[in-house]
Amino acid sequence: MNVKQNFIGGEWVAGQGKPNLNPSDINDVVGSYANGTARDVETAIAAARSAFPAWSMLDPQSRSEMLERIATEILARREELADLLSREEGKVVREALGEVTRAGNIFRFFAGECLRQSGELLASVRPGVQVEITREPVGVVSIVTPWNFPIAIPAWKIAPALAYGNCVVFKPAELVPGCAWELTDIIQRAGVPAGVFNLVIGKGSELGDALLGTGVDAITFTGSVGVGNTILRNASAKGIKVQLEMGGKNGLVVLDDADLDVAVAVALDGSFFSTGQRCTASSRLIVQNGIHDRFVERLAEAMARQVVGDARDPQTTIGPVVDGKQLEIDLGYIDIARQDGGRLFAGGARPEASRQGFYLAPTLFTETTSQMRINQEEVFGPVASVIRVRDYEEALEVCNGVDVGLCAGICTTSLKYAAHFKRHADVGMVMVNLPTAGVDYHVPFGGRKRSSFGPREQGRYAAEFFTTVKTAYVRAG
Ligand code: UN1
Repeated sequence: MNVKQNFIGGEWVAGQGKPNLNPSDINDVVGSYANGTARDVETAIAAARSAFPAWSMLDPQSRSEMLERIATEILARREELADLLSREEGKVVREALGEVTRAGNIFRFFAGECLRQSGELLASVRPGVQVEITREPVGVVSIVTPWNFPIAIPAWKIAPALAYGNCVVFKPAELVPGCAWELTDIIQRAGVPAGVFNLVIGKGSELGDALLGTGVDAITFTGSVGVGNTILRNASAKGIKVQLEMGGKNGLVVLDDADLDVAVAVALDGSFFSTGQRCTASSRLIVQNGIHDRFVERLAEAMARQVVGDARDPQTTIGPVVDGKQLEIDLGYIDIARQDGGRLFAGGARPEASRQGFYLAPTLFTETTSQMRINQEEVFGPVASVIRVRDYEEALEVCNGVDVGLCAGICTTSLKYAAHFKRHADVGMVMVNLPTAGVDYHVPFGGRKRSSFGPREQGRYAAEFFTTVKTAYVRAG
């Protein structure tokens, strides 16, 4: 099998290959992909450094046209790319199509942003002096992305990095090299000069230190809290600018006055679609006593109607877990929740006759309490737990009672509670009568507490991380 190579300094470089397996059917090998080394990362950083002076001074029209070409090709090939995404990650085709479309739209948004970069002009406090505030690119940026959004998360880091004039060393998650490789191929054919954009596929444990090597100015990472904290320590020690998006343990509050149909649909999507493998998933359902029993009954019925199966089968609504290791983690948390006294209300096991893929039925626990591990630690699978609460005040306290704060949702018909919740949920994103997962691509994304570190991603706010501010003083005349 031909090895899909890494792309460094404008060349596809030779190296050893590693198989990429389909989680819906482990007998299906998606392809053989590069297994890069720390030396590859060093070469990529050097190439990025030497490309930076010319790239950072390039006119915005040229940069915009390149990003527009990338967007156009992604959108034109969306069905083929969605099939690849579905095959290597296990996301159902409908969601994969949505994700690829999102990636194309992100490049299009930042093609526009290239032309909207501006500064400020102020009068100095000193007579005869003018002050200019402008933004310049940060320099060389390491981009490290997770497996759960194999094309959208790379897009939402790479597009702003390039739009604002930075050079990139991109290390995608090892489990999903396929989309990363296709995206790289599209970027290089769009006319991005050699060295500006480099791809190094490989193991995080092998490449991690090198991605913070000499010549790197900033690193942006989405992934686990553990890896994020290591990056934060190492990057800070070296004075490298850091942006981290990490875990969530997002609460969805359902109040007695909620529209039950809306609440069930919102919980089903937020908790179980994308196989629960979203940092924005609603893993804690915080439900008021008066609606509790009706809500869990209706949610369990909706769960029973889901079709767990091959991600590329159009009938399937919930695809497999991404790999065997993640499946073990999910099953481990199901055991922990049971032992801690949670009541297994639905799911909990692997569907029969599914041994060729990593399938797990959507799983719901009831009668859990806020301090149980199932309600404090991120599972990252199709597992949600219900916490019964007396009133809105207790719901808010439970919702905020975790050490992460990515997003939170509330289902209510009360303007008063919705307004209070928007202001007092200790998170970066709040959803009212909408799933906690599934965000827009043109507005800020990020959380509080241990979920995030550094400036927000996405939309115009992306400039905070990908540029650095310069203040110039000019004597007039
Ligand atoms: C979404 O919910 O639409 O890794 C996006 C994640 C997040 C992205 C979620 N960074 O799940």
